[in-house]
Amino acid sequence: MLAARYPYYLASKPVAANTGLEVTDKYTGKVATRVALADAAAIDAGIAAAVAAQEALRRFAPYQRQAVLEHCVKRFRERAEEMALALCVEAGKPIRDSRGEVSRLIDTFKVAAEESVRIDGSVINLEISARARGYRGFSRRVPIGPCSFISPFNFPLNLAAHKVAPAIAAGCPFVLKPASRTPIGALIIGEVLAETDLPQGAFSILPAHRDGADLFTTDERFKLLSFTGSPAVGWDLKARAGKKKVVLELGGNAACIVDADQRERLDFVIERLVFGAFYQSGQSCISVQRILAHADIYDELRERLVAKVETLKSGDPREEDTFIGPMIDEREAQRLEGWIKEAAGAGARLLCGGARQGAMLQPAVLENVDPAQKVSCQEAFGPVVLLQRYTDFEAALAEVNHSDFGLQAGLFSFDTRKALRAWDVLEVGGVIVGDVPSFRVDNMPYGGVKDSGLGREGIRYAIEDMTELRLLVLRD
Ligand code: SIN
Repeated sequence: MLAARYPYYLASKPVAANTGLEVTDKYTGKVATRVALADAAAIDAGIAAAVAAQEALRRFAPYQRQAVLEHCVKRFRERAEEMALALCVEAGKPIRDSRGEVSRLIDTFKVAAEESVRIDGSVINLEISARARGYRGFSRRVPIGPCSFISPFNFPLNLAAHKVAPAIAAGCPFVLKPASRTPIGALIIGEVLAETDLPQGAFSILPAHRDGADLFTTDERFKLLSFTGSPAVGWDLKARAGKKKVVLELGGNAACIVDADQRERLDFVIERLVFGAFYQSGQSCISVQRILAHADIYDELRERLVAKVETLKSGDPREEDTFIGPMIDEREAQRLEGWIKEAAGAGARLLCGGARQGAMLQPAVLENVDPAQKVSCQEAFGPVVLLQRYTDFEAALAEVNHSDFGLQAGLFSFDTRKALRAWDVLEVGGVIVGDVPSFRVDNMPYGGVKDSGLGREGIRYAIEDMTELRLLVLRD
């Protein structure tokens, strides 16, 4: 399943420079494979290759970029099960979630293949006053230039794909640093890209430790930095990124409101809430962290939700019926266990879960949590959800907004007026009505406001960031 060792990709070529990076099986803790680790010299060479590839990429026509992306779609389909198993091992992601991520990877590349031949321009009417009589304007989008990408551990394939696929569609060379704990997904993407006709140097995929990887942030040859990861790291990178454009996809403490009118379909609502809170052990930026349920249904929802959570199977992510796998490492599990205990010590009621063994944390449900507790106001990024009762819908909306973050929010209600009101007032990048905030399809604009980030992904929106408008004015 996993190869014994993996090269990195420098200037589009595999380079077995060393075996400096050990990748562990996140469930067993054993070394699963070894990967070439890039140092500052390799990163510098990757950037130089990206700069040099710009001209060749400019001449690489949209239909050629589309062919590259279509090749990836074909190969990912052929290698789907192998890729899912790799994710399962390197991220500890339950096999069903791993397969789901591979199918999203395929969607992401498919959409990018379509978008690659639709990057059009426009005609601008300049004759807005007498002095502009006889002038015509035209605009088109041109690639921004070399891009620096840093992708996270929780979706090793698809969140790398959300940078790589639009860059290929837009004609931008790039250097990608995948998360050092989960580099395999990105390296398999590299393996497939190396089979294509992409111009030499158009891509480098360089696993590196954060310490040696400052060039990804500071190097002025990059014209764009796109980072997905934690808010603390993301905002620090932005402060050090110099003149380049910065896109940040960061975290959140997503909330979901459940209206009183949902009583008749609580089974469905609870199933979605449990999924949203606990899939891949809550390690998603849009996992449900706060549930605000109307007082009329609160007690019933609490009882049934806890009963459901207690049935979730924890264990080996390779087993088909495992729902809760390990967190990415023991340190993260300890951190969240500590937050849960701290909240309980400050008066919260732990309704289930919270026990830890190594990196395995039992899914926890808490109520009556003081909003100042870390488990409420910071990003939990793990298997925990908080329950809260509300009576007034406006107060519930205000409570959702009472957060430093604003990525996505969910609302279960049949009332269209409430849906529109939520869309009007919630300070988030997206409002999901009829489902959990954890819902994402890969062509939708995705990103946050407040501490949750800057800019949007979703292929077309990423392509906008990866291209500049270039104007042509013609005087008659
Ligand atoms: C994220 O965790 O930032 C992405 C969530 C997703 O793509 O579903």
